[in-house]
Amino acid sequence: MAEDLQIIAGDKKQKYEALLPQIEALICGEPDPIANLANIAAALKQTFGFFWVGFYLVKEEVLVLGPFQGPVACTRIRYGKGVCGTAWKEQKTLIVPDVDQFPGHIACSSASRSEIVVPILREGQVTGVLDIDSDTLNTFDETDRYYLEKLVAHLSGNK
Ligand code: SME
Repeated sequence: MAEDLQIIAGDKKQKYEALLPQIEALICGEPDPIANLANIAAALKQTFGFFWVGFYLVKEEVLVLGPFQGPVACTRIRYGKGVCGTAWKEQKTLIVPDVDQFPGHIACSSASRSEIVVPILREGQVTGVLDIDSDTLNTFDETDRYYLEKLVAHLSGNK
């Protein structure tokens, strides 16, 4: 397996189209979930330069910080709290164009301006979330939702 990531020039859709098969190649054959989540966070950060990319994993009824790339972050998020805890509760992807407008947003960094959180579902249960923060407003849209949900679907059998 080549560990070099090929980052193509192009729009967001083209970047995701090139990235997803590379991530699949990176994680297939590696049974350790932490290794795979770490590489996924790195690949997303490397490709898009997002401010913060990481995972929170459900452990004993709380989301606990998992592999991530970016500044240090809060370690525990309760069910229904913040964007992450709400995505867990609602079992759906949340796109937040302006974090200041999201009631109860948990500000791990004051530099974060917009956010997307994608739940990882396994047999109808949320086992964790993928959380991406941007330092600009309105970064995430339906293209991000589509490809990140597709990416996260690969993890369902891998946790
Ligand atoms: N903003 C998140 C907390 C996690 S940090 O962004 C890394 C939330 O409101 O759940």
